[in-house]
Amino acid sequence: MILFRPFLMPSLALGVLVVCLCLPQQVLAASRAPQFSESGMVASRSGWASQVGADILAAGGNAVDAAVAVGFALAVTYPSAGNLGGGGFMVIHMADGTVDTNDHRERAPLAATRDMYLDEHGDVIEGLSTASHLAVGVPGTVDGLLAVLEKYGTMTRAQVIDPAIRLASVGIRLDRDLAGQFERRLKDFAPYPASMGVFSNKGKPWQVGDVFKQPDLAATLRRIKRHGREGFYAGKTADLLVAEMQANDGLITHEDLAQYRSVWRQPVRGTYRGHEIVSMPPPSSGGVLLVQMLNMLESRDIAASGFGSAATVHAMVEAQRRAYADRAEYLGDPDFFPVPVQTLTSKDYAEQRYADFDPDKASLSEDIGAGEIPLESPDTTHVSVMDAAGNAVAYTTTLNLSFGAKMVAAGTGVLLNNEMDDFSAKENTPNFYGLLGRTANAIEPGKRMLSSMTPTIVLKDKQPLLVTGSPGGSTIITTTLQVVINVIDHGMDVADAVASPRFHHQWQPTRILLEQRGLSPDTLSALAAKGHTEITPIPSFLGRGIGDANSVMRTKQGIVGAADPRNAGAAIGVP
Ligand code: GLY
Repeated sequence: MILFRPFLMPSLALGVLVVCLCLPQQVLAASRAPQFSESGMVASRSGWASQVGADILAAGGNAVDAAVAVGFALAVTYPSAGNLGGGGFMVIHMADGTVDTNDHRERAPLAATRDMYLDEHGDVIEGLSTASHLAVGVPGTVDGLLAVLEKYGTMTRAQVIDPAIRLASVGIRLDRDLAGQFERRLKDFAPYPASMGVFSNKGKPWQVGDVFKQPDLAATLRRIKRHGREGFYAGKTADLLVAEMQANDGLITHEDLAQYRSVWRQPVRGTYRGHEIVSMPPPSSGGVLLVQMLNMLESRDIAASGFGSAATVHAMVEAQRRAYADRAEYLGDPDFFPVPVQTLTSKDYAEQRYADFDPDKASLSEDIGAGEIPLESPDTTHVSVMDAAGNAVAYTTTLNLSFGAKMVAAGTGVLLNNEMDDFSAKENTPNFYGLLGRTANAIEPGKRMLSSMTPTIVLKDKQPLLVTGSPGGSTIITTTLQVVINVIDHGMDVADAVASPRFHHQWQPTRILLEQRGLSPDTLSALAAKGHTEITPIPSFLGRGIGDANSVMRTKQGIVGAADPRNAGAAIGVP
């Protein structure tokens, strides 16, 4: 992993950022080793973005200022998931004990209809919900980040957006990670000239060492800095977004953009062995399922059965199987569907749902419920931030698939999401990615599509202990579960908790995804003896594996950050 020399020089004494217009230089390889700081920590998928956050903290900003600045920076330096044209969820803990969440998930356009992806025979038209202008949900990120800054931040718009503007206009020197991402997607960008204008060098792949500038994106960021949400949802940016839609049979109108507002929602809360869990409520399924699974697992002595043992994996898989079956039936946008959050997250319900758990025998998914929830896209990204004062932010953001719909809206530099595919296109029929259709998550105008994003803060004695979350589609929730269990039950430090091998079960299909070499052969035999015979190995090395859980934890030694070693992120502390 690559870090770079700071190019914003924070001056604590003056509380300002002194700007250096020089190109950010890559200087140092990060490692699996945890990073320590007394003063604040940012862990994200992008070294450039983590450095922006650490600079903001060093200049006197709080964790919210840093998270917002990282959010804007990720749109520039990690465009496969960081975004202005997508959506996200932020879980916030303020030092005074306030907990809050901001939902800036995309919404279906007002002209969207339940059957918009079906042909005249009622069959799903392949690709329409992922690779067409109909795939695009009304973006929420800009409204969300600005709302969060206004409610809990201390800095000005300019202070948190300027670093992203500089990264876009001065440019960044491409490393192997980013140049590789662009090259791998070149054929997907090819139909869209505006995308090729950004992610290719005049039609040829960008090379490692090239300076990558995004002038249109810098101009859009400047409009947001100057005019706030109106710089995106109205005026020139809105005109360009709507023109892109009108020229390509998309649905988003000026009215959709003007109406979009992020929503403040009460977090989902739970407890686990003396810790408090604070996570994202619907329209994410993440927080509900995380609390539900922890409630079920509290009845098992996970610490005694040990990390990676057949008994522990079996107990966790059975909790996952039951929780994901409920996801398909009950989870959707709470503004449109009555999601039974209280019931699903109650200890009583977990006891009843787990009552048929047999420590010696795998259950059959057919007996647990019908349906299929296959693997979703892994292209989302997670940021964890803690500051010295006790503020903490868990932020997960996405365009859905890698680089979203692969379309840059001409003239804006903004990549468009294809989040509409997270809806169920047809009742009880798997969509393009195999998700089953259900009423709870059917398309309706203005509705938010169901998500798995699980930004989570774990509190101990009312103080933030752990900030975590992950990309990975449906595996987001089980990745977050494993980081939490690794810390609380297995006593791991945050670096081990994040690096340890992962597995995943989602009820349907009936199989365990397992990172290669994640369990020993005799553990696999013991699991097979219980009935877990379908185990699919997932390669786990740079850029592969289950999840990317860049996390931060408070310890007696200070604040510790861990970049997930599966990818090229970075945890950077305030010096
Ligand atoms: N697009 C992935 C998610 O929101 O779960």
